[in-house]
Amino acid sequence: MIQVNNLTKRYGPSRGIEDVSFNIDRGETGNIIGFLGPNGAGKSTTIRILTCYQPATSGTATVAGHNVFTESLQVRRKIGYLPENAPLYPEMRAREYLDFRAKLHRMSRNDRIAAVGRVTEKCWLGDFIDRPIGQLSKGMRQRVGLADALLHDPEVLFLDEPTIGLDPNQIRETRKLIRELGQRHVVFLSSHILHEVEQLCTHTIIIANGRVLADGSPAELRERISGSSRLIAEIKGGVDETRSAVQGISGVGAVESGEEPDGWSRLSIEANGTGDIREEVFRLVADKGWALRELRHEVASLEDFFIKITAEQRQDAGV
Ligand SMILES: Nc1ncnc2c1ncn2[C@@H]1O[C@H](COP(=O)(O)OP(=O)(O)O)[C@@H](O)[C@H]1O
Ligand SMILES: [Mg+2]
Repeated sequence: MIQVNNLTKRYGPSRGIEDVSFNIDRGETGNIIGFLGPNGAGKSTTIRILTCYQPATSGTATVAGHNVFTESLQVRRKIGYLPENAPLYPEMRAREYLDFRAKLHRMSRNDRIAAVGRVTEKCWLGDFIDRPIGQLSKGMRQRVGLADALLHDPEVLFLDEPTIGLDPNQIRETRKLIRELGQRHVVFLSSHILHEVEQLCTHTIIIANGRVLADGSPAELRERISGSSRLIAEIKGGVDETRSAVQGISGVGAVESGEEPDGWSRLSIEANGTGDIREEVFRLVADKGWALRELRHEVASLEDFFIKITAEQRQDAGV
């Protein structure tokens, strides 16, 4: 469905993306693909190239069976694109705007009425369709942008950070809508929010500094992230005593400890393997007759995760 080979984009001397490659087949990997990376990673650059809005410096790419550089008309017919800051006309009513956009797809009057009706329903615009866009909330405007991207019933939908700037309710609604769209379309979604990609996506590509760092299912991604998580335990007891007891559990690696007020110790425990050591920690505390007020995994932040996989890559490359 989407093939990208050694795509590079330079903006003058500065780098947009470097040697980006990935391959997404429909079905095999599911239909919502997460393109995850911090700000400045190269997500928008990649998406603009794949949607034929910007040329690449080198490399090749095909989307829905067509080359994005030599067959851009065919590609555009098969894709929908919601850019980072979708330009909408505030004075137009949503229905007028969508009809105007459908005209650009050269649809006949009857086709336009049918298409606008279809996307209105699909994007839950019913109550708002005759309001001026300028009066809609940011969440609603985002849905108008999605409806626009869906007018010609594209196979592949590119959404560039679709939940950025929305409030928590709007985010929840938008994610629900994206999940629904993923049942009929291949959705390529960029995000800098790990949790969002985990929630929504069936396949994830991680990009940082213009390079692809990882490519796999959310389960594989989670495994790699939890590999870098630590267990936090707060135990009532002396710092040295609790630390050396926890250190004695098999499967426990490094343990850091700190003193809390009122005789509590806070331990940050690293596991050696991938096994869950919470049960052993709990048993130890119970055997010793100590009290326990917290026992949880501290999942590494996305930034930590990027640092970790970048370091792994450097090791693999023998740097
Ligand atoms: N039009 C541009 N001109 C110059 N540099 C750009 C341009 N667009 C993006 N960049 C640079 O390319 C890199 C990737 O940017 P971008 O694709 O927007 O990342 P993301 O969408 O992941 O935040 C950044 O370093 C950014 O500064
Ligand atoms: Mg961007």
